[in-house]
Amino acid sequence: MEQVSAKADDAVLSVKDLTVGFGSNIVLDELNLDIYRGEILGFVGASGTGKSVLMRTVLRLLPRRSGNIRIFGMDFDKASEAERLALDMKLGVLFQHGALFSSLTVMENIQVPMREYLDLPQAMMDELARLKIELVGLAPEAANKFPSELSGGMIKRAALARALALDPALVFLDEPTSGLDPIGAAEFDELIAKLRDTLGLTVYMVTHDLDSLFSVCDRIAVLGQKKVMVEGTIEDMLAFDDPWVQSYFRGKRARSIVRKT
Ligand SMILES: Nc1ncnc2c1ncn2[C@@H]1O[C@H](COP(=O)(O)OP(=O)(O)O)[C@@H](O)[C@H]1O
Ligand SMILES: [Mg+2]
Repeated sequence: MEQVSAKADDAVLSVKDLTVGFGSNIVLDELNLDIYRGEILGFVGASGTGKSVLMRTVLRLLPRRSGNIRIFGMDFDKASEAERLALDMKLGVLFQHGALFSSLTVMENIQVPMREYLDLPQAMMDELARLKIELVGLAPEAANKFPSELSGGMIKRAALARALALDPALVFLDEPTSGLDPIGAAEFDELIAKLRDTLGLTVYMVTHDLDSLFSVCDRIAVLGQKKVMVEGTIEDMLAFDDPWVQSYFRGKRARSIVRKT
């Protein structure tokens, strides 16, 4: 009993009985999900099931019908405006189609959140942006490039640098490796794992990438039937008796990976 509550205390994000809908279309129906400090949670589900909707709701970009959301133990509904602002600064986001602003350089893109939330001299923002660029494994020259001059992998890294601009504790990544070739995706996964280890980040990663799920995710949650249908380790997924989960984790694409583990 005590162990259960200790774990609950360690939840950096706790979603309880969340219902979200658009008109008569109920997308999430009394969904529950906890994310624990320091883990990389892989969030999967068929296309159009509401993965992005959940993320956007947690970020208060979409309204809820009902349910409760706590981040770092703080209840949104009870937080003051100042508390919400402080909370937002601890969250980093890489949106699904989170392209960079095309008219801004990489450095200027990374400084967008800094301008929004902090009041710092330009020289200091430049220095901070350079640190983020290094952190995500981009060359210093990338700082003054425009997105159109970057490869797909470099754009993802620059977008990650922007998500890390304010030194967040919890990072949301919506399909960060989609569109990357397998090597680029594997390198991005390694970077995420390294950042989790060195910065102590907690990572919520929506992904379709089975390699990511097998290689970097500590825990997996599957969205289906408007709820988190199952959560746990890869072994839990492989043992879960549901046709979608079985075909997803044991299908043709998965088999070669399962064999390796
Ligand atoms: N702003 C919106 N207005 C109306 N319907 C939406 C909106 N955003 C998402 N939806 C609907 O919610 C469902 C889930 O979408 P989404 O979360 O984007 O799926 P995915 O799991 O692929 O990320 C879809 O049926 C989509 O049409
Ligand atoms: Mg989506």
